[in-house]
This record gives sequence, structure tokens and C-alpha cells, in this order.
Amino acid sequence: MAELAVNIDHVATLREARGGIEPDPVTAALIAELSGAVGIVCHLREDRRHINDRDVRLLRELVKTKLDLEMAATDEIIDIACDVLPDLVTIVPEKREELTTEGGLNVADNLEFYKSLVDKMHNRNIDVSFFIEPSEKQIEAVLQTGADIIELHTGTYANAKSPIDVQIELEKIVYAAQIGYNEGLIVTAGHGLDYVNISPIVSIKQITEISIGHSIISRAIFNGLESAVREMVELVRG
Ligand code: PXP
Repeated sequence: MAELAVNIDHVATLREARGGIEPDPVTAALIAELSGAVGIVCHLREDRRHINDRDVRLLRELVKTKLDLEMAATDEIIDIACDVLPDLVTIVPEKREELTTEGGLNVADNLEFYKSLVDKMHNRNIDVSFFIEPSEKQIEAVLQTGADIIELHTGTYANAKSPIDVQIELEKIVYAAQIGYNEGLIVTAGHGLDYVNISPIVSIKQITEISIGHSIISRAIFNGLESAVREMVELVRG
């Protein structure tokens, strides 16, 4: 059975639209926890377009389940992670001009650097997850870094239009989840998942956690956050 981690970035996006103090992503995190989320995810971007340094520090103080700091592997953010000590970091690629994370990280491309990053985090008892495409090459690279977790990018699956394309993308995720699990990695998944497309993903038994933000916060606008999280928790648990 999979569990749900809730990404609260988009609450901060709404706050930043007016540059004020509401809605507060920290309040959202606490409601998500009370509603059944097993983890809270936030992405501290270089440009601080949504989550800011104050949010991360307060979340570290208040989140009781598990704080997952999504981050690009830049010196500045690595230093913040080492100082704030989240339970885990998820390493993602980041481009200033993108609306959201556009795909998985190319771990194979910079193996030595990522190995030393994993060591640095492990020395501080921080688990490391790499957000990757569902590809054997990337899983093999992650294994060489000594990381704990792979988060499989589900965005291409979520965006696929025709049933055949959906099936092709799903099969890549099924295959990657199997390889990762067999190699002893914790396998999670996320990006673009919603109340409609989630069910084939949660039926992949090797995937133990799903990270979802946008669709939950979107539904929360109409139904309230507690109800939006509870409904997704039920779907994720299958
Ligand atoms: N996982 C990662 C690595 C992400 O970058 C994001 C988006 O911030 C998500 C999961 C959640 O994606 P979505 O907001 O589409 O649910």
C-alpha cells in the first residue's frame, strides 16, 4: 500500500501573488498532516518564487511526519539543507524559466558530484532521493551514488493523451519500479498526478509513496484542504 506526501508549494504561490502572509503554506502542511499525509514536501527554489527560507525553517520545527526538501544541487541550497536538516532531500533539476520541474535529473551525467552530495547528506542523517525518469540507466547511476530513494517522474505519463501513449508511459514506470525495488531502493513517484490518473500508479506495488501538490491544492480551493487530502489519501492507499 502506498502513502501520500503532500507538496505545499502552490499554497506559497498564491501567497506570493500578493506578497503578503496568506495563505500560509505552513498552516497547509499541518492540515495535510492532520488529514492523513505521511510527509510534507516543499521545493526551495533558487528564485524563491513560492517557498522561502522562513517556510523551510518553520516547517522543520513543526512538521511531525517527515519533511522532504526538494532542491537543486546548488551550493546555496545544499548549505541550507545541511543547516535545516530535513528528513530527506529530493534532488531535482531546476531551470529558472520553467513553470514547474520539467523532467527527471540526469544523475548519470555527474556521478562523482552526486556521490559526494549523498555522502554529505548521509553524514547529517538526511536521506537522499533522486527525481529521475523511469529509465534503467538513471537507476543504475543512482545506485552508484549510494542514495536511498528514487522518485520516478510521472509527468510524461500524466500528460500522455492517447490510451496507447498512456500505456507506454505506464509500462516504463512499472519496469523502472521493479528494477529499483529489486536493487533495494525505496521507490516513490510523483508529478502531474491527480484524482483521475492516480489509480494505475498506486497499483504498482513497489511504489510506496506518492508526492502530489497541484491537484490537491486545486481541489482544496473548492472543497477545502482537509477533504482534498483525505480523498487523495484514500485513493493512494487503494
Ligand atoms: N515530485 C517532484 C520532484 C516535483 O518537482 C513536483 C512538483 O513540485 C511534484 C512531485 C508534485 O507535482 P504536482 O504538483 O504536479 O503534483
